[in-house]
Amino acid sequence: MQKIQSLSKQTQELYIAAKSARERSYSPYSSHKVGAAIRTSDGKIFSGCNIENSSYGATVCAERVAIQKAVSEGHAKITEVVVITDSNPPWPPCGMCRQVIAEFGDNTLVHTTNLVGDAESFKFADIFPRAFTPDHLLSRR
Ligand code: THU
Repeated sequence: MQKIQSLSKQTQELYIAAKSARERSYSPYSSHKVGAAIRTSDGKIFSGCNIENSSYGATVCAERVAIQKAVSEGHAKITEVVVITDSNPPWPPCGMCRQVIAEFGDNTLVHTTNLVGDAESFKFADIFPRAFTPDHLLSRR
């Protein structure tokens, strides 16, 4: 496992943003605080935390909150994602978040991290191969 300090300045910047967002996690049901931060192709950073709901299915993961903030502000190409929890090993993005990253990803790098600075980095395509993407719909006959 790598340490966050050994990764690029840009990635460490995302880690700090994800860690602060995690503090704002609304997770009274699972008690699992998750934070995420993403970088978009124009260099902007957006962060998010998981937001749970008493109707459990309405819960939104940290990654999707960050992505929704970015897309709704006009930044729809994601190049890098950092997820942080207090877990060992760090948590990877769930399947639903992977599908959403597939929609907006642009050669995306994903880093799973935790509060003690463990970090594992993946090319998104390696953790979500053969994704269903906008290309499939847009190229239909
Ligand atoms: N969660 C995330 O925020 N991101 C993930 O990729 C995995 C799960 C949240 C959802 C829920 O609030 C809690 O973690 C437990 O599943």
